[in-house]
Amino acid sequence: MEKINLSKDFRISKLIHGQWRMADWKMNTNEILKLTEQAIELGITTFDNADIYGDYSCEELFGNVLRVKKELRHDIEIITKCGIKIISDKYPNRITPHYDYSYDHIISSVDTSLKKLNTDYIDLLLLHRPAPFFNPAEVAKAFSDLKKSGKVLHFGVSNFDPMQFEMLNAHTDEKLLTNQVEISPFCLEHFENGNIDFFLKERIIPMAWSPLAGGSFINPKSEKELRVSNALKEVAEELNIDSIDKIIYSWLLKHPVSIIPVIGTGKIERIKNAVDTLDIELSLEQWYKIFIASRGEPLP
Ligand SMILES: NC(=O)c1ccc[n+]([C@@H]2O[C@H](COP(=O)([O-])OP(=O)(O)OC[C@H]3O[C@@H](n4cnc5c(N)ncnc54)[C@H](OP(=O)(O)O)[C@@H]3O)[C@@H](O)[C@H]2O)c1
Repeated sequence: MEKINLSKDFRISKLIHGQWRMADWKMNTNEILKLTEQAIELGITTFDNADIYGDYSCEELFGNVLRVKKELRHDIEIITKCGIKIISDKYPNRITPHYDYSYDHIISSVDTSLKKLNTDYIDLLLLHRPAPFFNPAEVAKAFSDLKKSGKVLHFGVSNFDPMQFEMLNAHTDEKLLTNQVEISPFCLEHFENGNIDFFLKERIIPMAWSPLAGGSFINPKSEKELRVSNALKEVAEELNIDSIDKIIYSWLLKHPVSIIPVIGTGKIERIKNAVDTLDIELSLEQWYKIFIASRGEPLP
């Protein structure tokens, strides 16, 4: 599979495997290892985690894989995130869920991630969400120290808008390499808020979380979900493609901004579906048919 350059010295796979739901997969370490090796065989070498995933358990689940098979570390790129503090039995003194981008929290969150992941470096650290209380100078200092110590190689953000991205970029020596945002035929938010245009302008390659909107095309409920699912079905029939997920991934991959989907399934055959879409070419009209179905009204 083709690799994508996020910077001169950092390449990741064109598809990322997301580990948010890993605790729900109810897999033991050997099963997660097998899934990971199968993904790598398909060319997916980049894995997306976060400190909070699975109530603070998913980094450890993946770290166990790296403990039993250390050599895997050299074949993969690890993304993890920090900044959200959720209510959890693991942090009994926490009363109010909040965001924390203080120097101390970023550093200690990375140290904990490194321990859980059984690694001594993180390839890409993302700030999980923008925050109303945010001191970019403090974040910049944390990034700089993490880079110097070799604990984090690259930095980015998630769910930021263009202004928030530029604000942090103006403070940090470590250029932000990506913004991981929700993009799918069911979520056009970033076409509407200027983010996609900003990515094109700045040549930023975005990552798309929940590319299948959590699987809502399987059992569409709202009017919008029904409209989009019907359009996807029509395009699948036109192209003689056997499953809707492939049409969704090709819709994302067609866009010139070079969206990298973060695949959320725990099933290898479904991961394979995503890889198969690299050969599918939607026409511009098919791309718009899906876009317009999601918009719910014709283009002006
Ligand atoms: N930065 C952020 O704020 C943020 C937020 C959310 C997620 N993320 C990242 O994005 C990743 C993906 O998010 P997501 O899990 O919501 O992704 P998704 O791909 O939109 O949804 C995956 C879900 O859809 C189900 N599904 C049903 N039919 C499917 C099919 N044919 N093919 C594939 N999946 C199907 C999967 O179940 P099965 O497992 O049974 O296939 C799984 O529960 C996460 O793992 C995480 O790494 C980031």
